[in-house]
Amino acid sequence: MIAIVSDLHANLEAAEVVMSHCRTLGVKEIYCLGDVIGYGPDPLALARLAKSHFAVSLMGNHEEALVTGKHRFNPHAAKAIDWTRTALSSVTGPDSPMAFFKERQPFVLKGNLLLVHGSIYDPVHDYVDEPENPVESQQMIETLNRDFSGFDICFAGHNHTPFLATAVGVMIPHDRHRSFRIPKGHKAYVCVGSVGQPRDHDTRASFATLDGEQLTFHRLAYDVKRTQAKILSAGLSPFLAERLGEGI
Ligand SMILES: [Fe+2]
Repeated sequence: MIAIVSDLHANLEAAEVVMSHCRTLGVKEIYCLGDVIGYGPDPLALARLAKSHFAVSLMGNHEEALVTGKHRFNPHAAKAIDWTRTALSSVTGPDSPMAFFKERQPFVLKGNLLLVHGSIYDPVHDYVDEPENPVESQQMIETLNRDFSGFDICFAGHNHTPFLATAVGVMIPHDRHRSFRIPKGHKAYVCVGSVGQPRDHDTRASFATLDGEQLTFHRLAYDVKRTQAKILSAGLSPFLAERLGEGI
């Protein structure tokens, strides 16, 4: 069994709950689709966690903004990435988190799996279309049939919203139906949601596991109030604390 996580966003409380659950499940390898840092108050701890525990750790748009200084972020995110850069730059030498993030790749192919942060068209910046929009859902299904070649399943993050798109349609997981079979050779887009800043009005950390043909979405509650308090005491935007409490 492998786990696919994304968008941890320096949220240590959420990340620890997910890591602990992965151990309970007997997960062999964890693939991270990027945005380990940004927004949240624990970038150093998350950088260490990514380096030591993730078999893959991709370049997300927040890692790109961190190492290049170039982005089109809103003021909350912009202030947070500058704060993160200052925090991470204090560690130099072989354990330098800035050096680690500079080396990240924008996509990785693992057997029949393509791992991206954004989409197959732009692995760092593009968003996979919204599952609620029927026109975009149909376009996504057409994408699977037309452009998925050389791999079967694309795992993506970035939109902070978990869902599965196959040739049959788009499925949004919920607590009574969160496990799906993807038969060998079938094409699928899997958006794993966000560990550290979910935006589907569910405050719980989101990630996925794949065990053979069985895909399962997981949601885990964590100590949101503790993370919110850390965001405020770090001097980051209060909006970044508020949104964790609402899942937006
Ligand atoms: Fe993100």
